[in-house]
Amino acid sequence: MKKLLFLTVMASLSFSCKAQDWALPQPQKTGGKPLMEALSERQSTREYSDRDLDEQTLSDLLWAAYGFNRDDKRTVPSANDKQEFILYVVLKAGVYVYDAKANTLILKAKGDFRAKTGKQDFVAIAPLNLVYVADLTKRDAAGAIINVGYISQNVYLYCASAGLGTVARGWFEKDELKAALLLSKTEEPILTQTVGYKK
Ligand SMILES: Cc1cc2nc3c(=O)[nH]c(=O)nc-3n(C[C@H](O)[C@H](O)[C@H](O)COP(=O)(O)O)c2cc1C
Repeated sequence: MKKLLFLTVMASLSFSCKAQDWALPQPQKTGGKPLMEALSERQSTREYSDRDLDEQTLSDLLWAAYGFNRDDKRTVPSANDKQEFILYVVLKAGVYVYDAKANTLILKAKGDFRAKTGKQDFVAIAPLNLVYVADLTKRDAAGAIINVGYISQNVYLYCASAGLGTVARGWFEKDELKAALLLSKTEEPILTQTVGYKK
């Protein structure tokens, strides 16, 4: 009886551990609008519907933003190849970190923290807010500001290509955001970016 109870507890524990990480489908690296059309349509959007992104779109978007396109190099350049950014993915269900190698979202906190990612009302309506966090053990915040632009522009271009809205956002309350994302002393939010379907 004790053995059965032990096995049941172990089985439920391993299930809840698995449930914490969200394996994404492989990103689709073909298709979308041609680059010149995406550039023509790139713009900032501040009115969103609450429609969720599907898993494939989320996977494609995150790969475009900060995925690996070679063994250990990414879709964005970074000075001295420091790759200092950690992509926080804030969805209705929780806060995740994008593990680009495993193509998996690692759960950091359950719950809806979208409203904590910025000062504008639409951040709590749009399905996704990205937070670009610099690992200060790799580079200081001033240096990271240059590199974040490449990630943000990849997201702008992916969104233009996929018919999504997006806006880069520097207007957020840093300490509130750090607390919501459970950031350590060596993690600094540099920029945020909302993504969703246009209203
Ligand atoms: C670093 C950076 C920070 C920004 N911060 C905000 C912001 O906090 N809120 C916002 O609504 N737009 C923000 N924007 C978007 C700009 O306002 C927008 O890019 C600009 O008005 C030009 O419009 P466009 O992107 O449609 O061409 C930011 C853009 C950048 C590059």
